[in-house]
Amino acid sequence: VAGVVRSFVVVGRIASASGEFLLDDLPGTSGRLDILVRCLRSGLLFSHGVRTDTVVYLVLPRGPRVVRFQGDRVRFLRPDERQLSVLLKKVLASGVDEGVAGFADVRRGISLARGGIDLVLEATQADRGAADVFILDERAPLDLRAVPGLGDGDTVFVLGDHLGLPEDICARLDAAGARRITIGPMSVHAEDAITVVANELDRRAAALDPAKLR
Ligand SMILES: C[S@@+](CC[C@H](N)C(=O)[O-])C[C@H]1O[C@@H](n2cnc3c(N)ncnc32)[C@H](O)[C@@H]1O
Repeated sequence: VAGVVRSFVVVGRIASASGEFLLDDLPGTSGRLDILVRCLRSGLLFSHGVRTDTVVYLVLPRGPRVVRFQGDRVRFLRPDERQLSVLLKKVLASGVDEGVAGFADVRRGISLARGGIDLVLEATQADRGAADVFILDERAPLDLRAVPGLGDGDTVFVLGDHLGLPEDICARLDAAGARRITIGPMSVHAEDAITVVANELDRRAAALDPAKLR
């Protein structure tokens, strides 16, 4: 990505890290991968398009495994939950990450890795220098709207699923200098939290460049 990059990192606490779940009962058989699929949609897609400045990471501690979707490279991503679930099932079943260090490409813009949050921190910080890392936390004293310069550089937002973020991952993020932010007084669904963050970044970018309306 040439410009500033946004990354959304969603941790599926008990989510399946293999392709062994039923598409006809995703919530009941996959440890709520349906939540992560909806986060993928809200993070990467807007009406009639893919956000080329965004990367979505799905962290699956049960592997541990990480699936990465890069908006500037991915092709033919459909917005409906069923098709995205089919895609995720194929990606997890591909096994391309077997015996590989780091991310292995499954197809253009979609890659898979053995590992957890450290791998994500490495990937988001490595090539492009330091990114600002934020933990999305309902109880945080700092409001998203009050963060000065948010989105001026690369940003990484880490969210939990219906069970919230695991403590060990929060501790690792704290050690990496992550800041906790709230998006408002209600605990909303993870995919909605992503939409609110993306909207705030969109608004700030549009304020700098009104031609950015799409
Ligand atoms: C459905 S909520 C998790 C609720 C879970 N029972 C808990 O207590 O953590 C899913 C995720 O969305 C994010 N989130 C939801 N509402 C938020 C808010 N008001 N401010 C910041 N993050 C929020 C958090 O990362 C949260 O872990």
